[in-house]
Amino acid sequence: MTSARFKNVIAGQLAMLTGGDSALIARAIDRPKVKGLGTFAIPLPRLFPSNTTLPKKKSKALDGALSTAQTASAGPGKAKRVLVRDQGNNSAKADLLSQLRHDFDTTGLIRSVTPAGQFLNFGVDEKQYTRDTIQDVILAETAKLRFLDSHKSDSELNASLKSSDHLGYGMDASIGKGQVVAIDYSSPNIAKPFHGGHLRGTILGNFASRLLRGFGYHVIGINYLGDWGKQYGLMAVGFDRYGDRAELVKDPIKHLYNVYVKINKDIVENPELDRKANEYFKRMEENDPMVLSLWQEFRSLSIDFYKVMYKRLGIEFDVYSGESESAQFVPQAYALLRETGLLQEQEDGAWTVDLTEYGLGVCTLRRADGTTLYLTRDVAACLQRAEKFKFDRHLYMIGDDQNLHMKRLFKIMELAFAKKLDPSTNHDKSHWSRNLEHISFGKVQGMSTRKGTAIFLEDILDTAQTTMLERMKENETRYEAVKQSIQQQQNDENSQGSSLDVLHNAQDGVKQVADKLGISAVVIQDFQAKSSKGYDFSWKRMTESTGNTGIYLQYAHARLCGIEEKSGTRLNFEARTELLSEPEAFDLANAISMYPEVTFSTLQTFEPSLIVNYLFGLSHAISTANQVLQVKPAMDAGDTELAESRRLLLWAARVTLGNGLRVLGLEPLERM
Ligand code: ARG
Repeated sequence: MTSARFKNVIAGQLAMLTGGDSALIARAIDRPKVKGLGTFAIPLPRLFPSNTTLPKKKSKALDGALSTAQTASAGPGKAKRVLVRDQGNNSAKADLLSQLRHDFDTTGLIRSVTPAGQFLNFGVDEKQYTRDTIQDVILAETAKLRFLDSHKSDSELNASLKSSDHLGYGMDASIGKGQVVAIDYSSPNIAKPFHGGHLRGTILGNFASRLLRGFGYHVIGINYLGDWGKQYGLMAVGFDRYGDRAELVKDPIKHLYNVYVKINKDIVENPELDRKANEYFKRMEENDPMVLSLWQEFRSLSIDFYKVMYKRLGIEFDVYSGESESAQFVPQAYALLRETGLLQEQEDGAWTVDLTEYGLGVCTLRRADGTTLYLTRDVAACLQRAEKFKFDRHLYMIGDDQNLHMKRLFKIMELAFAKKLDPSTNHDKSHWSRNLEHISFGKVQGMSTRKGTAIFLEDILDTAQTTMLERMKENETRYEAVKQSIQQQQNDENSQGSSLDVLHNAQDGVKQVADKLGISAVVIQDFQAKSSKGYDFSWKRMTESTGNTGIYLQYAHARLCGIEEKSGTRLNFEARTELLSEPEAFDLANAISMYPEVTFSTLQTFEPSLIVNYLFGLSHAISTANQVLQVKPAMDAGDTELAESRRLLLWAARVTLGNGLRVLGLEPLERM
């Protein structure tokens, strides 16, 4: 990658001049926080860390500067510390820096060295940097195309698409090769509304899966449905009173939720219902087929319903499991906990694990009546996944209201796995507990429809879609243009259908665009807030077309597609990119070149706001470049080479923006 190459050039020279380690120096080189201060920067303390020894072989020029500093310091061995840390010795530091500047070769790829505060900044050969960056994008994207091309049969292609659709520029697929990552995400409760926390966890999990897949990890996305527990006993009791089959089939989640709300009111006045619910759940745990068939029906209707929603969000799971499934592994979990001496039997018959010494209290894993709890089933699920998927890492995307639960789970797994199961086989399974990670996130406040009522995901997505459709219609000419262009595309794809069909399809097409825009608005608003923090859900803010919104990012992408389409040029990978000499061209290329750095650091944190903020910056650079690097006018003026080189740069920008949107889980729009 271009930025890495340029960093290495800087690091190589700095290492030579200071005697430092070039790999360490390269790692310390970053982007300046302030614009206009060059392309790269290194913090001075990282260049002269206080604990390094003096360079053995110093350049002659540096010798002078260092000895000045040494005389000024208390003793010879402390020269460096004094140079960097002691603000009182500014003149020695200044000497050293000016010497460094003097000796640094600025006739090659690096063109300037400028100290600024605690940093040393570097400017680059901008034309070369621009060319190299474009080349990076071409190489990565053509490799991706070749990869897709090599999977000829449809099923093969579909299978590989899933793992490859985010390959391409920005992600190095060799990084995660051969490693399995399980991700537990979304995991709603059947028969209960899909609330804000679930939406956040769903899109975050989808994002993490895509990011990891892009980096070559083998990801197993697990939807661990809340489909077991006492509340399903209560639900059945409620269904007996308030259930309606027709309603159930029409909208299972809403209907079951209504039933659940009613029965929960009843239970306050009638404690008998609570006993009934317990009894019912006990029968479920005893595998009574009579009670299980109703539960099974609730479950599969809910899943079918959820699948429609997931599809709308572009999300696919590898596994639909759930608490009911892990319930079967509970005996194994109890056995493990007993063998390792963690399980304690209480007088009333309950089984507990004592985690007080870790500040996590005493956890009940089996109630006195013999039934299991949420924590029990999570222990069992973790065991089951470790054996089944042999994961290298396991991420749980769950809101911060379950922090304590997750701490308990991880501690129990750690204690259980720390003790070897079988001394004769010497199976050490502790890595499984070491590699469990809870990606916690804050609450979404005030999530409701515009009418302020329900909080079902479906309603959120519908409201977003309607809002966007209204927005699109506000600009009548543009709306008609979008409709026509969809119509045109459909005409091209299928010349058989009647013209009325095409018209209807175009209307559907517009609706689909509105849906994708709505989803972009919701997702980008969510991802803009740091995920560890909560945020206030705001229809107004998220659907604004100016300012930093999902609409703005989609607009930037669609606009680039429009420019490409209308440019009158061809996409020429051999275009003469050395013709790109405007500062706007370099600024755009520089923004493009940051993308691999951003995705890589996101891989360490799973913090989508990093990518979102980056994409806003990129889009701003795109919009500035669009004003200056016009393609069609260049073409019209007969300057084909210039037009082609500009088009190629804009293409690289579009690809990068598209890849960024895709990794966030959004489909980049070509028209809107
Ligand atoms: N169903 C749970 C809820 O809605 C979330 C499950 C998260 N995953 C887990 N393994 N505990 O709160």
